Amino acid sequence: MQVRILGSAAGGGSPQWNCHCSVCVAVRTGAPGTLPRMQSSLAVRATDRSPWLLVNASPDVHRQLELLDPTAPADAIRHTPIGGVLLTDAEIDHCAGLLLLRESTAPLTLYATEPAHRALQTDWPVLRMLDAWCGIDWHELVADDPSHAVSHDGIAIETFTTGHDAPRYQSFPGGPGTSVGVTFRTADHAITYCPTLERWSDALAARFAASDVVLVDGTFWSDDELARHGAPEPRTATQMGHLPLDGSDGSAVRLAQLDTRVVLVHINNSNPILLEHGPERVRLTELGITVGYDGMEVHA
Ligand code: MLT
Ligand code: MN
Ligand code: ZN
Repeated sequence: MQVRILGSAAGGGSPQWNCHCSVCVAVRTGAPGTLPRMQSSLAVRATDRSPWLLVNASPDVHRQLELLDPTAPADAIRHTPIGGVLLTDAEIDHCAGLLLLRESTAPLTLYATEPAHRALQTDWPVLRMLDAWCGIDWHELVADDPSHAVSHDGIAIETFTTGHDAPRYQSFPGGPGTSVGVTFRTADHAITYCPTLERWSDALAARFAASDVVLVDGTFWSDDELARHGAPEPRTATQMGHLPLDGSDGSAVRLAQLDTRVVLVHINNSNPILLEHGPERVRLTELGITVGYDGMEVHA
């Protein structure tokens, strides 16, 4: 199985267009040990002969699809590198790119939970809009029930609830299936992707430990990170449904205890781990945790 990280930043990317925090300024000015990053997305496939499954359709999807094999059969005027799209939630950073896929010549195969599908049919009706272009072939993901695993091009897809915090535009409450993590399985391997991690649990730790690689929520270093940068009306990491990395209850020490390769994704522009020479990044390296980057490949 192959995974390619197409965007390693959280919503807004890094740098974020209107942000002048110390991390965004460093990235924007090309300080040593920094990299620009696109918004949260990856692609997965069973073998190098299978089509990619796009996991989350970010606002940067056009440039991100160019990071996948752009070659087409000689006689093809239209050709797509992806065989489907999977959404882990209905947040804007994970779904705005859906509209940009409207030129598809076939209905888009879409994997999403019922709450995410409902949000995208009602409060933000992008799926209804797409009916006027390519159309959607929706396959429901049922979270927290392994008997409902679906299969796509040689990969079994299993989802589990990792966040109950509904998108801000959504008019109905969040709950199970609002934000999910995914375990992708082939006969011999498992890769788990979890861009939103609200809280740690024994079940989650067991799932991570049983995976060859875990790509996990690296959104915030500290709970009060936005306030520390002086952001207006800052919300805490916890209020935004993301467990911070730092601290004795943070995710970093817990992830380090797993005997599994850990790669951080969905990293917010404010997060000091984006500075390769900073103390937070050095700490992660000591813990054996990798910071994902755009274009990074992971194999299992
Ligand atoms: C999140 O990851 O929590 C959301 O994307 C936040 C947001 O963009 O509102
Ligand atoms: Mn997000
Ligand atoms: Zn910033």
